[in-house]
Amino acid sequence: MLPKMFSRYLINFDLSKIKKIYTDFLIVGSGIAGLYTSLKLYDKGEVILLTKGNLKESSTEHAQGGIAVALGDKDSPRLHMEDTLKAGANFCDPEAVEVLVTEGPKCVEELIELGTEFDKIEGKYKTTLEAAHQKPRILHARGDATGAEIERSLSEKVINENKIKIRENILVTDILAEHTTCYGLLALDNNTNEIIAYLAKSTILASGGAGQLFSNTTNPDVTTGDGIAMAYRGGVKVTDLEFFQFHPTALYHQESPKFLISEAVRGEGAILKNIKGEPFMHSYHPLAELAPRDIVARAITEQMKKNKSDYVCLDATKIKDKFSQRFPTIHKNCIALGINPEKKYIPVAPAAHYTMGGIKTDTWGQTNLTNLYACGECTSTGVHGANRLASNSLLEGLVFGNRIAQKIKENITYSSINKLEELKLSYNAHQKKYKEYNTMELKKELQKLMWNKVGITRNSSDLKKALQKINQWKFIFKSELKTTENFELANLIILADLITNSALQREESRGAHYREDFPDRDDINWKKHIVY
Ligand code: SIN
Repeated sequence: MLPKMFSRYLINFDLSKIKKIYTDFLIVGSGIAGLYTSLKLYDKGEVILLTKGNLKESSTEHAQGGIAVALGDKDSPRLHMEDTLKAGANFCDPEAVEVLVTEGPKCVEELIELGTEFDKIEGKYKTTLEAAHQKPRILHARGDATGAEIERSLSEKVINENKIKIRENILVTDILAEHTTCYGLLALDNNTNEIIAYLAKSTILASGGAGQLFSNTTNPDVTTGDGIAMAYRGGVKVTDLEFFQFHPTALYHQESPKFLISEAVRGEGAILKNIKGEPFMHSYHPLAELAPRDIVARAITEQMKKNKSDYVCLDATKIKDKFSQRFPTIHKNCIALGINPEKKYIPVAPAAHYTMGGIKTDTWGQTNLTNLYACGECTSTGVHGANRLASNSLLEGLVFGNRIAQKIKENITYSSINKLEELKLSYNAHQKKYKEYNTMELKKELQKLMWNKVGITRNSSDLKKALQKINQWKFIFKSELKTTENFELANLIILADLITNSALQREESRGAHYREDFPDRDDINWKKHIVY
């Protein structure tokens, strides 16, 4: 079964009648990938950086564990590559992984020059261990606030650069392309409530993932996969969407959203126990708590089912002397809910965490449309395979953002602003009003459906049921969408459709994609990518 086609544009428009803004480089997203790419490009022209919320609203801001990089004496890019390939379940693109691990150290050094302050001890950078890494190679900042520190340093630089124009509260809706060339994007400006065409010589999507597809997620509200869904509708190839990473340990608490309990807590020695207080990870994998993420998430799910509990326990009491110093953010959040991790077990359960598939790019961040690039979580560069190695994502944002800037600088003479001024595009297919629906209720239903039927363990019957439901909800594409919430829901429905179809097609289990009805990896028939 293939996904039913969606309309090319989500809105009716006529380019000759709407406001147009011209620029050299149009970047969407203000996480590590978008900010870093802006800083690598502004010396060659004006950058407009669009972000859906405010500058700091991104998944990067919430990243705890850190950034994986082979900088230590006893480590090497080769070892980092081995770990990445192994965690990726024989599904990574080795060329892309080699780029990641060999160019990563230089990019991280530059991040430090740009002002990011990683934690140090006696003048040397502190590193920690995370799951499936042979070496402690995770740099971190302010204990468990690595992402927030990176956002602070990069956004300070971006704000202070005159040639980078930040535009907040702008939701991109559609790719403006003719034949196979991208000329920019349509966007809803929520400051003025108007539709604007941003026309650019080069467009870069760094618009993040889609954790909001699931009712349990560690991701912030903004992660609705807008860039991936928009790209797909605009004729850009997307791939590997069935591989969605579930983090094993999000805080389980009725009164709290799913707050991440970093894998670094297990890296520092915390133990998983079922609700009877029994450790269980040794019976699932020799690396126990530090087994690859997909294995730990499934083991926890099995223990929860077996013991009819909604959570398992993370025993971090052995690291009590340093918990509050090493993990101040987690400590503060737990204490606010009445859990002192130095004395009590932390209740945890898996939650959707990372979109491993996405916009298909080559190792220079190029998509199949000329002048359209993508980097960060919205992409599928091939570095994560079927299961992302912990803390490789921040590194990916840097390395491929840097490569995009290099490639654009090489290509710069070939793009022309004149063509942008001549561009004539319009679309008029949506009815003004089709059928009333409650956006927020529909979104919640979709999230529940995805969690229950397209989550950590999947099977053909559940996936087919999910597709039936998703198809019923496609009526929303008949009418013109108005608000950010409408567009986000539309994008989530598109991604739900693509992910569920891919998950149904892939009749094997590999990395984060686990089919109860096809529990084994099938390298003979399925070492291939599903591309839409
Ligand atoms: C964590 O801190 O456990 C998250 C790190 C990551 O997702 O790479």
